[in-house]
Amino acid sequence: MANILVLGANGQIARLSENIFLDSTGDNLKLYLRRSDRLQDKAAAFEDRIELIDGDTTDTAKLVDSMKDIDMVYANLAGGNIEEQAHSVVDAMHQAGKNRLVWISTLGIYDEVPGKFGDWNKSTLGSYITNYAAAAKVIEDSDLDYTIIRPAWLTNKDEVDYETTQKGEAFKGTEVSRKSIAQIVVDIAQVPDKFSKESIGVNKPNTDGDKPSWY
Ligand SMILES: NC(=O)c1ccc[n+]([C@@H]2O[C@H](COP(=O)([O-])OP(=O)(O)OC[C@H]3O[C@@H](n4cnc5c(N)ncnc54)[C@H](OP(=O)(O)O)[C@@H]3O)[C@@H](O)[C@H]2O)c1
Repeated sequence: MANILVLGANGQIARLSENIFLDSTGDNLKLYLRRSDRLQDKAAAFEDRIELIDGDTTDTAKLVDSMKDIDMVYANLAGGNIEEQAHSVVDAMHQAGKNRLVWISTLGIYDEVPGKFGDWNKSTLGSYITNYAAAAKVIEDSDLDYTIIRPAWLTNKDEVDYETTQKGEAFKGTEVSRKSIAQIVVDIAQVPDKFSKESIGVNKPNTDGDKPSWY
């Protein structure tokens, strides 16, 4: 049984992973988010396994406090200040003496998406990619035991169906379900060596194309 700190705990992937943690593991969850009242019902339903923490990830001191007794930090964050958030998370983990981090990023941060889809992805996402690349560099340049997850374009399909590529390899496919990413996070918590010090691209097999199918 592990203790997991979820940052950005009301995020869409985060909520799916919390449900999988609660349904299929004995792990305890510290849910860190802005406006924590949004997850009050979930916390009340699992009061023996969930602790709610109201906070912004740029508040490094609060992050340090929240990391007591934690085995893994799962950061499901977003926003134009994602690099600042990455610095704050890494600093807090250093101060708290914590090592295992799962960081959700995006496809394209290494210009690894080939062909027409790669061109479309880059021009559609613009500065979002540059910001996420800078944040990922903060994580990779740290001495933490990280896993960076680079999902393809996300769907809400109720399926777990994915393959992975490594940093240095061309990205495959165009889409993947949020549920697949959530399952990977839970699997890493059960086997902490899984994808250790790796930056993985994640896509649904056989979804190659010039754009995601719904565009
Ligand atoms: N959409 C796609 O196709 C796609 C593809 C690849 C990767 N991604 C990325 O994958 C990541 C996870 O996806 P998702 O669907 O779960 O995203 P999401 O629902 O937007 O979740 C991101 C969470 O980050 C939280 N957050 C942002 N700044 C914060 C701060 N300073 N302090 C605390 N929490 C903060 C937000 O909190 P609030 O609820 O308080 O705003 C939000 O709940 C995102 O970074 C997304 O950009 C998306």
